[in-house]
Amino acid sequence: MSKRYGHFDDAAREYVITDPATPWPWINYLGCEDFFSLVSNTAGGYCFCRDAKFRRILRYRYNGVPMDAGGRYFYLREEDGTVWNPGWKPCKTTLDAYECRHGMGYTRIRGERQGLQAEVLFFVPPGRRCEIHKLTLTNKGNAARDFRLFSFVEWCLWNAATDMENFQRNLSTGEVEIEGSTLYHKTEYRERRDHYAFYGVNAAVDGFDTDRESFLGLYNGFDAPQNVLAGQAGNSVAHGWSPVASHFFRIHLAPGERRTLIFVLGYVENPADHKFAPDGSIDKTRAHGLLADFDSEAKVDAAFSELKRRWNSLLDRFQVESGCAELDRMVDIWNQYQCMVTFNMSRSASFFESGIGRGMGFRDSNQDLVGFVHLIPERARQRILDIAATQFADGSCYHQYQPLTRQGNDGIGSGFGDDPLWLLFGTVAYLKETGDFGILDEPVPFDNAPGTEVPLLEHLRVSFRHVAQHLGPHGLPLIGRADWNDCLNLNCFSHDPDESFQTTENKTGDSQAESLMIAGLFVYTGREYASLLRHLKLDAGPVLQAVAAMEQAIRTSGWDGEWFLRAYDYQGGKVGSHENAEGQIFIESQGWCTMARIGAEDGLCDRALDSAKRLLDSDYGLVLNQPAYTCYHPELGEISSYPEGYKENAGIFCHNNPWIIIGEALAGRTDDAWEHYCKISPAFVDDQQLHKVEPYVYCQMVAGKDAFRPGEGKNSWLTGTAAWNWHTVTEFLLGIRPCFDGLRIEPHLPARFRTVKVHRVFRDAVYDLTLHLDGQGGSTFIPYSPGHHTLEIVL
Ligand code: BGC
Ligand code: NOJ
Repeated sequence: MSKRYGHFDDAAREYVITDPATPWPWINYLGCEDFFSLVSNTAGGYCFCRDAKFRRILRYRYNGVPMDAGGRYFYLREEDGTVWNPGWKPCKTTLDAYECRHGMGYTRIRGERQGLQAEVLFFVPPGRRCEIHKLTLTNKGNAARDFRLFSFVEWCLWNAATDMENFQRNLSTGEVEIEGSTLYHKTEYRERRDHYAFYGVNAAVDGFDTDRESFLGLYNGFDAPQNVLAGQAGNSVAHGWSPVASHFFRIHLAPGERRTLIFVLGYVENPADHKFAPDGSIDKTRAHGLLADFDSEAKVDAAFSELKRRWNSLLDRFQVESGCAELDRMVDIWNQYQCMVTFNMSRSASFFESGIGRGMGFRDSNQDLVGFVHLIPERARQRILDIAATQFADGSCYHQYQPLTRQGNDGIGSGFGDDPLWLLFGTVAYLKETGDFGILDEPVPFDNAPGTEVPLLEHLRVSFRHVAQHLGPHGLPLIGRADWNDCLNLNCFSHDPDESFQTTENKTGDSQAESLMIAGLFVYTGREYASLLRHLKLDAGPVLQAVAAMEQAIRTSGWDGEWFLRAYDYQGGKVGSHENAEGQIFIESQGWCTMARIGAEDGLCDRALDSAKRLLDSDYGLVLNQPAYTCYHPELGEISSYPEGYKENAGIFCHNNPWIIIGEALAGRTDDAWEHYCKISPAFVDDQQLHKVEPYVYCQMVAGKDAFRPGEGKNSWLTGTAAWNWHTVTEFLLGIRPCFDGLRIEPHLPARFRTVKVHRVFRDAVYDLTLHLDGQGGSTFIPYSPGHHTLEIVL
């Protein structure tokens, strides 16, 4: 067995890291409302309020050398000059003990050296705009201990992009204020900003630093701050350059003594008329309030208990006891948790995404919905309305929008053929979960233009119509810039490395580029849309006709003999056909066409699934396409830009494996469905070194069988994979599927699952289900009714 870096503690709902030198930083997220933090297992990372680009609080250098430099550091300097950190980094002094526990919205890091223990609990209190760093120092030895303690954070000057693009300005704008033990960062406050940050502590300090060069020394790294080495703070006041915040304490601990310090890293927005105090300094009233709310251990512990209580009550909405520990911990804890994180972050800020590039994806955010709608239906409601408001009147949509402004992103624009259908997908999922049909009457504008409001239902209508009216020569949907596969750019034909594959269409006009993935998605979501219309007692006839026509088009022009084609290119040539030299078969169309059960009665689904298993499967999951492209194809775009086995060129997308799993489940091929699920589910990961990224959350992509190192994960955390696996495991494997008026129970689990208990909150009802499975399959329907229902179901 390969080296392990940690283990699950299911009872505590934590992942415990026992070796700090993980193969990649293994991170966690703090915060759930609008103040968010990324924290690695060595205390690296940063925080921001609402928007990782425009309201960045701590500075961070992504992808730096060494990896993961910068964060919230505590330095302990011993009498003999040794300097160490409880999280090992940045000094990397050998510790006698180290443990990092990533929990639900908190991280606890504990380091110990020669009997001195330092433990930091990091969390964002519910509803508050601050990080708490509760530092507990314990002398476990028999002799008194004298040492010096330094805290350290580095401020980002708010706009995280300017840090890279226009730092000449930043080197002159930095400003701080110091008041007792609180170090304020107020860059640009003199002009248009009404916000500031601060780092305070609930004890009198023996010194401080606010200027980075004075603290570190210009030529020193975080691992060797000159003031820490010297054991003395500089009391520096930053004027421009790089403002930081560091507190300094001389500490004496008697044998057995324990001392707790509470640091508050806060963010405040002031009303315009309360910006300044009479002396011209910043109005600190709100900061004082925040500091006072967390100035004692008792207050902090109460806030922490409240955080735990909130998470427990959220996760308790869906709990399973299946007899399979891996399945249970994904469902009960980590898959739900990751879905909440993708709700909060979309694809913006991770250790693979800078937080300054992408906003909220139209497609991504709709898919994410199916992962969190059962947890926070009210926020899912608002999310749907926000997303729909970025749609254009003709049904097309901005591909992305910015969370701060909720406006569509002009830089990316529109033109992705699949986008409109995801609004149908997300909204139907919301309706099934909540029964809140009133949302369909909500007035929602087009492109956020006042006066253009129409009921949300009309947005669904134009979404469907848009795709139905943009068909190519085979009656299949035109792909536009790309479909779900951002890298299948069939109208791009780029020869200029400075062009974006996603936003460039060098050929348009008479494009014949059609997508079988969108075709399958159209049939699947079209049927859902039709059943919604019927439920509303509206005419579903035209929708069903368009769906039937699409099914026919797929059967006529989308079947390659043993599997579904992937696309037709600009010239009408086949993509994903046995006639191609490379890229003969793709996962997306096998997934969506088998989910839509196209040609099932003639064996098409079984054959497509067999082909996927035979040609795409590997030890680590199903790869996206085979054979991988070995050279650049301008007519296919970015997909062929990746080396074989990586990303969209035959990587294992943990996001689209679930489509095959659902297809397998619906085809009654339960063992295959389960086998595919286990390969991509992180709880089953055996080789942590190879997998590289966090073993408790999904990553977007695992290197495929053609790659140099098959099985190596990348792009953890922010991926539609979380929602799709949640949807798949709960609705298709466990088979607890919300419908407009109840729950359909239709498990697809291998024969060894005999008794499965599910606790499921559904609307204002609670269902405690015990499923007795005989391995033969079966289905039953439980009509929704409020109250607590305890049911034994034999299937
Ligand atoms: C691709 C990237 C692309 C991105 C856009 C990713 O999956 O691999 O190259 O820029 O999607 O959304
Ligand atoms: C990541 C993007 O966020 C998502 O929208 C897309 O579907 C996948 N990449 C696949 O290309």
